[in-house]
Amino acid sequence: GTVALAFSGGLDTTVCVPLLEDLYGYDEVVGVTVDVGQPHAEFVEAEETAEALDLEHYVVDAKAEFADLCFESVTANATYQGYPLGTALARPVIAEAIAEVAQDVGADAVAHGCTGKGNDQLRFEAVWRDTDMAVIAPVRELGLTREFEQAYAAELDLPVEGGNEGDWSIDTNLWSRSVEGKDLEDPAYVPPEDIYDWTTEPGKVTAPTLVQIGFANGLPTGVSVLEGPESVQETAADAVTAAADADEAKSAIATGEPVAVIEYLNALAGAYGVGRTDMMEDRMLGLKVRENYEHPAATVLHAAHESLEGLVLTKDERDFKATVDDEWGQKAYEGLVHSPLSQALGGFLDVVSEKTEGTVTVKLAAGQARAVGRDSEHAVYSESAASFDTSTVDGIEQADATGVAKYHGFQDRLANSAGSATESE
Ligand code: ARG
Ligand code: SIN
Repeated sequence: GTVALAFSGGLDTTVCVPLLEDLYGYDEVVGVTVDVGQPHAEFVEAEETAEALDLEHYVVDAKAEFADLCFESVTANATYQGYPLGTALARPVIAEAIAEVAQDVGADAVAHGCTGKGNDQLRFEAVWRDTDMAVIAPVRELGLTREFEQAYAAELDLPVEGGNEGDWSIDTNLWSRSVEGKDLEDPAYVPPEDIYDWTTEPGKVTAPTLVQIGFANGLPTGVSVLEGPESVQETAADAVTAAADADEAKSAIATGEPVAVIEYLNALAGAYGVGRTDMMEDRMLGLKVRENYEHPAATVLHAAHESLEGLVLTKDERDFKATVDDEWGQKAYEGLVHSPLSQALGGFLDVVSEKTEGTVTVKLAAGQARAVGRDSEHAVYSESAASFDTSTVDGIEQADATGVAKYHGFQDRLANSAGSATESE
């Protein structure tokens, strides 16, 4: 039979190729690399490794679809234990793309190189077990360690030395970059600056940038820079992969083209060191792991979106939406963005986000992305009502609050004096 393997050209997936042929007995292994915005070097590595292995290799571009999901996650302010979800959002997109190729080439099985300790095995398999294909997880099933994989690769003379990963296990997509493993497994170990690739040490660029983000229906619709150093904007324009020049990049971000917006903001905010996370993460199986993430664009868009929600949603909507957001983020972390619950929550998010339209100004400086201005036609806001400079609003006098103030805390006072009342008897 034929097996379609999620293939990156890294050590894990490279050793899977001979294992699937020799140990699992497949006649043909097809490697599939799904483009969700990894750096160019990773595709070169995958291509070269596939060639050296004589592996039939497909590359599927899923960037646009993935970027749409990233934007959808902004609507839900989707985080897990405080960081914007990244790897978790990409996995179902990757798994679906691989399943499609597998079906096209008539494969009867799909395989991944994830370990039995992580989340990714669960996220891939949740998608694949919904098909008729067998699911194979060689690293997990054979209990492979990195040490074994290295020795095995050396023995079979597999092409693995071209790895661009260095010491770390890195997972990169448009929305986030994750670094784990080796020295970082010690929670007390302070990471060297060179684990970061998207973010410059905060404070290197001193002149701030003001960037304006437009929203409609809770989704980003456009980005423009109001002020800031030209050099930072030029680097950001260069990062927009589909644009031939700076003008094209500018118009792509101005019209809210999702891939371009994300690439641009990653570079722009990355220059300020925005969007670093160093944390202990609770994985689905219960293991705690030390994780480092970079997610500049996500940090900027989340900050802007949440700030706009603060203007246009009622307190009740905000409070309830926080619960919905949490649930949506939890399912997304599990790789179950298309679950019935997620879809139902999505229905609420669509309705409540109808008013999340307007613009937010975000200031980028010294490792921070702060919303410093927001504007919307749907503002649940009356300047005259809130102002210190007016006394009467809609016929309500300041003095009308006196009765409310008298009652406020009434029950607490009753409760606090209940014991002392019996004592004095
Ligand atoms: N633990 C994170 C998650 O479950 C990221 C894992 C990414 N993988 C890696 N090899 N860095 O989303
Ligand atoms: C792995 O263990 O294969 C990568 C990390 C994860 O899945 O969480």
